[in-house]
Amino acid sequence: METISSPADLRGRVRPALQAGKTIGFVPTMGALHEGHASLIRRARTENDLLVVSVFVNPAQFGPTEDLDRYPRDVPRDTALCEREKVDLLFLPRVADIYPPGFDTFVAPGRAAEGLCGASRPDLFRGAATVVLKLFNIVSPTRAYFGEKDYQQLAVIRQMATDLDLDVEIVPCPTVREADGLAMSSRKALLSPGGREAAAVLSRALREIARTRANGERRVSALRERGLAVLGAEPAFTPEYLEIRDAGTLDPIETCDRPAVALVAGRIGSVRLIDNVRLPCD
Ligand code: PAF
Repeated sequence: METISSPADLRGRVRPALQAGKTIGFVPTMGALHEGHASLIRRARTENDLLVVSVFVNPAQFGPTEDLDRYPRDVPRDTALCEREKVDLLFLPRVADIYPPGFDTFVAPGRAAEGLCGASRPDLFRGAATVVLKLFNIVSPTRAYFGEKDYQQLAVIRQMATDLDLDVEIVPCPTVREADGLAMSSRKALLSPGGREAAAVLSRALREIARTRANGERRVSALRERGLAVLGAEPAFTPEYLEIRDAGTLDPIETCDRPAVALVAGRIGSVRLIDNVRLPCD
């Protein structure tokens, strides 16, 4: 595996593979890699000739009062994981490589970025879409892999790829969970042992919604009530939202008469966690 920090060097390293007609798989990350990232990397490894992983904690997707400084970073561990998973190129740009002085152009995502996480984190999707577009332009991937845990981010990236005619296949990958259902996430490292235990409430609430839906309940208000009751029973958890939306457009719905998704976000102490579950249509 080669580690590269300059965008020009990365481009130069990918160019011969592209010219030889090889496929490039790309997994963009903010590091603190876990089993969820490893599953994306493994899939990308099997589906492409050359595999590029980026680790870049993107300041543009954090608001001024958010946890940029606290966001977990562990480059030696990330490097070891990438070596183990047979990554070809590990791209570790510095902030000045991605946002040089004078940088002044951002992607403005539309409706997919409104509400849900976009309501409390107004910079999130503008920053994430901008860096993903920049990374795509540097890496020229054939396929790029994103976790379904960040469901709204995936919707924003898909919409951007369609709207801006990006020549890349966006590959969604299932959420990887721990034994108690907690979705793998980098921020989990910030939880205290008690907080870690409490964090299972997100997936418990989503499971309750999925179970109620599977038993025939279609009213979104009734499904939300069941989920909120589970969340309310965990005093350490402060809910931000629990919503059930159209699975494709993320538009609000009143009845589950089409494929839907239940999405939850909230805090344990100062650690923000999100999760979601698909609700199939019967
Ligand atoms: O999901 C993430 O880790 C980030 O939002 C991404 C896609 C790497 C952009 O910074």
